[in-house]
Amino acid sequence: MEKVKVAIVGMGTVGSGVARLLLDHGDRVIRHAGKILWLEEVVVRDVKKRRDVELPEKLVPTDDLSRVYKNDEIKVVAHLVGGLEPARTIMIELLKSGKDVVTANKALLAEHGPELFDLARELGRSIAFEASVAGGVPIIANISQCLSANQITSLRGILNGTSNFIVSQMEEVGASYADALKEAQVRGFAEADPTLDVDGSDAAQKLAILAHLAFGARVQWDEIPRVGIDQLDPADLAYAQELGYRIKLIATAQLREHGLELHVSPTLVRSGQPLAEVREAYNAISVVGDAVGNVFFHGLGAGQMPTASAVVADMIDTAVGRTALTFRTLQLWSQAEARVAVCDPQTLTGRYYLRFTVEDHPGVLATITGVLGRHGISISSIIQHEASQDENGSVVPLVIMTHTVLAGATAAAVAEIDRLLCVRPGSVRLRVLS
Ligand code: HSE
Repeated sequence: MEKVKVAIVGMGTVGSGVARLLLDHGDRVIRHAGKILWLEEVVVRDVKKRRDVELPEKLVPTDDLSRVYKNDEIKVVAHLVGGLEPARTIMIELLKSGKDVVTANKALLAEHGPELFDLARELGRSIAFEASVAGGVPIIANISQCLSANQITSLRGILNGTSNFIVSQMEEVGASYADALKEAQVRGFAEADPTLDVDGSDAAQKLAILAHLAFGARVQWDEIPRVGIDQLDPADLAYAQELGYRIKLIATAQLREHGLELHVSPTLVRSGQPLAEVREAYNAISVVGDAVGNVFFHGLGAGQMPTASAVVADMIDTAVGRTALTFRTLQLWSQAEARVAVCDPQTLTGRYYLRFTVEDHPGVLATITGVLGRHGISISSIIQHEASQDENGSVVPLVIMTHTVLAGATAAAVAEIDRLLCVRPGSVRLRVLS
């Protein structure tokens, strides 16, 4: 049977999972590829480090990348090096030495996609990246191939498992933010720097990739407006529940009349809607296409074997030549003009959840609703619980749900309300999915 020699560069958690699938389940690979994917080299940073995968005696891990670059028989390389450098240089060298590359590194693609994809095209090579967004959930193949007959009109995703895990733990077992984050790190979902998970950056990097595939948007991930869950107050999880909602970190890309709505934000999602019911470290993406209607993807977006599942599927596709075909036709991150412009966030419309902490005096409610009214904001419901005491006297939380309004109007109204003497600092403004 034909043998395609492959290599793994980077034997962290995911790399070990990839080795395990190739070595222990070669039969599956043969069934789908019609050939053997022969693991020829494994490149590690530290050859002395113990790994949780048993390698055959003849397959000795090396820290010498040139063994891969110089071996012309190695055709496909799983590039599983995190971060930007040396990951970028290694990918460039792999492409230049004639390898097709499979990667899970979303940060690298979000930051250097145009350069790397242009180089791969120039050299007649391919880059496959299913594992870079939502780990084991096959969203890249679905958007770029299975749904290609559609104009996608909306894409909403829970793209960061760590954030979803933290919010679920806070909501369901009353865990503190710090304890839930620690647990996510122990379970191996979190990035090396978990700030990127909880401040919305990781989700924005994935959204930049999806928005490019689904809408032809050319946007740098750090230009995507994003708010993470790191400032989320447990009080808002409780109020949301009282109102019949859950709070989720939602990455949104939605076609509007004047362009593409694009942001990552903690959002109230009505309980019972599929996105609201995504728990723990699961990821989910709800996609609407003009022909197919609504499709929903759900699964583990991180962790060893889910991510390895996507990497090995890409290695098989690459070994049989499928990746090369789609890579050529899709022209990803080419110099072509963006097909859609990104909307100014202030001009978007939507519903909002507002929470103010206000003094419990006659006329305060009227003052606040007056400001909202002047900004054209219509109120859908209000919760005001009994007063608690703070150091400055009697204050009450005031929770307001709006009807559909202009985002810019809510921002301006909240800024004006925050300047009122009867309002304590720390007002909250969250989107509501409608
Ligand atoms: N740290 C990411 C998450 C997984 O928590 O979803 C890798 O993208």
